[in-house]
Amino acid sequence: MKNVAITGFMGTGKTSMGKMLAGRLGYAFVDLDKAIEKEARKSIPQIFKDDGEDYFRQLEKDTLKKCLQRRHLVLSTGGGTVKDPDNRALIHETCMIICLTASPTTILRRTAKHGERPVLDGKDHGDRLKAIEELIKSREGIYSDADYTIDTSELSPMQVMNDAANFLKRRGIPHA
Ligand code: S3P
Repeated sequence: MKNVAITGFMGTGKTSMGKMLAGRLGYAFVDLDKAIEKEARKSIPQIFKDDGEDYFRQLEKDTLKKCLQRRHLVLSTGGGTVKDPDNRALIHETCMIICLTASPTTILRRTAKHGERPVLDGKDHGDRLKAIEELIKSREGIYSDADYTIDTSELSPMQVMNDAANFLKRRGIPHA
């Protein structure tokens, strides 16, 4: 049985939904960002600050490979994980892919805390919305090989999880 990967931009609710979905399926849950932080023994903003984005992306790639050796896993990826074609290929090969989307203003609201998302940092409200829109545009296409896509803007995490779980049931992944 394939693993389940949750992909999508920052602030689309991948972690909250992934955790709940794992509970419903009886699968283990791994948040890739958390696994990277454990590997590096420091926070993601600190990795960006000390070592730079290229280093972070390599660590992300190595950690992804390690995580996907496991089975019966729901894996929440980082928003930029699928920028890398090798990562996309590996996820596609080993996982059913659920992609979460949200409107830029929803993403702005959900990522309001500074210091947590280094790729958006240093930007105030208006600039930050613009940065989100530009980043979404520059990442067009990278989320397109998902098996199922859910717009989470108007939904609670529970509604998103139920939608995903029903889709997986239709695809033969059983759950309670
Ligand atoms: C990133 C998204 C973050 C995290 C890192 C880079 C990105 O993950 O991996 O800050 O490039 O979009 P979330 O999508 O879980 O916030």
